[in-house]
Amino acid sequence: MAGQWRTALVETALEDVASETGGEQARQLRIGMDSLHRTDPELAALLDAEVRHQDATLAMIASASIADPSVLAAGGAALSNVTAEGYPGHRYHPGAARFDEVERLAVARAKDLFGAQYANVQAHSCSSANLAVLAALVPAGGTILGLHLDAGGHLTHGSPASVTGRHYNAVHYGLDETGRIDYGQVAELARLHRPKLIIAGASAYPRTIDFARFRTIADSVGAYLLADISHIAGLVATGEHPSPVDLAHITTMSTYKQLGGPRGGLILSGRDHSSFGPDGKTPLSRLMQRAVFPQSQGTPSPAAIAAKARAFALADTDGFAETTQLIVASARALAAELASLGYRILTGGTDNHIVLVDIIESGLSGVVAERALEQCAILANRNRIPGDTKSPLVTSGLRLGTNILAQRGMGPAQMRDCARLMHTVLAATTALSDTEYQIDPALAAQVREDVKSLCARYPLPLERCDSIPASLIGAGQ
Ligand SMILES: Cc1ncc(COP(=O)(O)O)c(C=O)c1O
Repeated sequence: MAGQWRTALVETALEDVASETGGEQARQLRIGMDSLHRTDPELAALLDAEVRHQDATLAMIASASIADPSVLAAGGAALSNVTAEGYPGHRYHPGAARFDEVERLAVARAKDLFGAQYANVQAHSCSSANLAVLAALVPAGGTILGLHLDAGGHLTHGSPASVTGRHYNAVHYGLDETGRIDYGQVAELARLHRPKLIIAGASAYPRTIDFARFRTIADSVGAYLLADISHIAGLVATGEHPSPVDLAHITTMSTYKQLGGPRGGLILSGRDHSSFGPDGKTPLSRLMQRAVFPQSQGTPSPAAIAAKARAFALADTDGFAETTQLIVASARALAAELASLGYRILTGGTDNHIVLVDIIESGLSGVVAERALEQCAILANRNRIPGDTKSPLVTSGLRLGTNILAQRGMGPAQMRDCARLMHTVLAATTALSDTEYQIDPALAAQVREDVKSLCARYPLPLERCDSIPASLIGAGQ
């Protein structure tokens, strides 16, 4: 376990807080909020309106979660004023001693949480993490193999709309007739194209990913395996989804999607951290360090790293594990409720937090469904589905996620209410075109009221954070 020891700097900082001379950061944040309200009411009002909006909205955005207020506070820390390129103990600027400790803490907690041997917490996002990994492991023009965007893949997995689809020879695998990853096709394309790197991961895939099978395929052609677990990071952390950390050479993720962390990325490596990179002599962990700084980023974001440290600790609590169980149970229940209301659920259900709905079958485009729902205080986003004939701005599908519902304490029993509220809106929506619609304003107002009262019964988890195990409070290596 990390945190079995504490550095003198951490001990002193803790003593300062205990002797009441500390708390400066909290004071600064309070002054900051007071000042914002007094001197910039326009901006402050918008920020307050967002809090109220989140509180009274049924958010089913699969790529979002609610950051604990302590995560938001850490992200607003004065640590942000520190400029320090490089890594702990090897900075290119003076004055980074406290940041060094914070970054070491974040690294130790990330390794602990995911059972990894190596962690880099500096990536500003998962997109930049993926770009860094690709640049380190694949030569320009080299072949990569990833899930097609229309099948649920991500832009950075080789889409022509991303630099990854232009600087590399990107080949894509898809789904089989049941909507699951076509592993036979992955193996066949790998054999044909001999990619340098295979990406396992998705933005819109409701089923368990077989990382072991991906690794077997990667090994059969001598490719590196990158697992991008941005969407399922919370489930992986708590064991609700099998972990790729010891199966993939490298694992990347966003820290804000399911981890309740700040905007940011994380790069991990497990068993393969000391395997060699393409030059046959540099360990992957060393390559990843260089890949982030100096090869693709300059200064890290110190306060964001503090917020990551806090989020990793919270994700290591029993409360978070219970939430992830609820996430999966609720998604299954939501899929079943919607199916019973006549909606076609892709793959027939879900193993994770995502429910994909073929909404065009119900006579609405994805964007019309999204807009009508939003008018009624329900957030779900349009999504392309396999074989989609509509553009990415229109789409034929809806992607739902249960992260935030579960964080509010809603479980399978409440999914009936959520599905019925959605159905009330969608059934009352008349599409005038792919992008325009009509809905009875009185009905929309009634649903907004119903959403508000459901949300009031399950408020945002502002005070619900668990205590952090003592072993995680100290810094680790
Ligand atoms: C699978 C996957 N990878 C990477 C990303 C990009 O993450 P970020 O927003 O941190 O750049 C996303 C989300 O947008 C994603 O779904």
